[in-house]
Amino acid sequence: MREHPSSRIDFRSDTVTQPTKAMREAMMNAPVGDDVLGDDMTVIELQERVAAMFGKEAGLFIASGTMSNAIALKTHTVPGDEIVCDKTAHIYRYEGGGYAALCGASIALVEGEKSLMTPEQVKALIRKADGSGSHYPNGSLVCVENTSNLGGGACYDLATLDAIAEVATSMDCKTHVDGARIFNAAIATGVDVARMCQAYDSVSICFSKGLGAPIGSVLVGSSDFIAQAHRWRKMFGGGWRQAGILAAGCLYALDHHVERLKEDHDRASYVASELNSLEAFSVDLDTVQTNMVYVECKQPALEVAEILAASGIDVFDISPTHIRIVIHLHITDEDVQRLLEVCASEF
Ligand SMILES: Cc1ncc(COP(=O)(O)O)c(C=O)c1O
Repeated sequence: MREHPSSRIDFRSDTVTQPTKAMREAMMNAPVGDDVLGDDMTVIELQERVAAMFGKEAGLFIASGTMSNAIALKTHTVPGDEIVCDKTAHIYRYEGGGYAALCGASIALVEGEKSLMTPEQVKALIRKADGSGSHYPNGSLVCVENTSNLGGGACYDLATLDAIAEVATSMDCKTHVDGARIFNAAIATGVDVARMCQAYDSVSICFSKGLGAPIGSVLVGSSDFIAQAHRWRKMFGGGWRQAGILAAGCLYALDHHVERLKEDHDRASYVASELNSLEAFSVDLDTVQTNMVYVECKQPALEVAEILAASGIDVFDISPTHIRIVIHLHITDEDVQRLLEVCASEF
């Protein structure tokens, strides 16, 4: 599928996708209402459908993944609390320090192996104010990112997910999944999303990444949790009116863009093994489980990105040594071949 109105091939992120013609039509024809007043039927349909898919009581449609995570963190914590997550977690690296600024929480960082935490590591980092003579913050929330973005799109296995939640719950912590790409994880592991998130209190799901909708995330959890989250969304200025026009894009994505994620994963795995066979690049093939390829470059990553850009191919230099290639809805086999040809001839 190539409906991207650009002559460039954009591998920077799965967030660059534009709504397809069919998705735009679904959005255009959506019945809408005033979601602040609670009567946008398309938003209600999306929230109820996603909550049911994830086996949770309720859902809340939110403008972005960052806002959805921020609202989840805010709802689960009070100032002086501490959140446990991997050192590469999006909530820690790329959300503007919202955990500190909005929640007044500190973060305890797990040194995960390839960005994936173990239950033992999580347990070791949960510290409680009680019994510490008021020395410690209060470890009250554990956040898991699945798939892990900086982990190269790698997925947690179910046993680890369950064990992390069990450790957290037994130590009186809430549990949140940053599931920006949780459907990628479900397609890659064959584990249904409800089962995957069964032991977790909340999940944030993005529709504007691999699923190809232009805007929107849904936060799911218990009815009480979502009622509180609704209040925080309002205070963050995230209450919106005829949001059904956006929810319709997300509903379309659920119907048409979930199963096809396997195509992205297959292309990513092909790109990874082909690039790994070139002298100039090296890829940790174990981490390439979904739609991302983190590529270690012999020459500086910025230079590699610039050379590719000169050939009409956009990638991110994610660190001085690595570029990131993300496969998505608008990347075709021809695009992949072009990338591989340029890589073989230029480096
Ligand atoms: C793992 C993860 N969580 C959350 C987000 C935030 O999503 P948004 O950019 O919609 O705020 C991203 C964005 O790329 C992400 O990769």
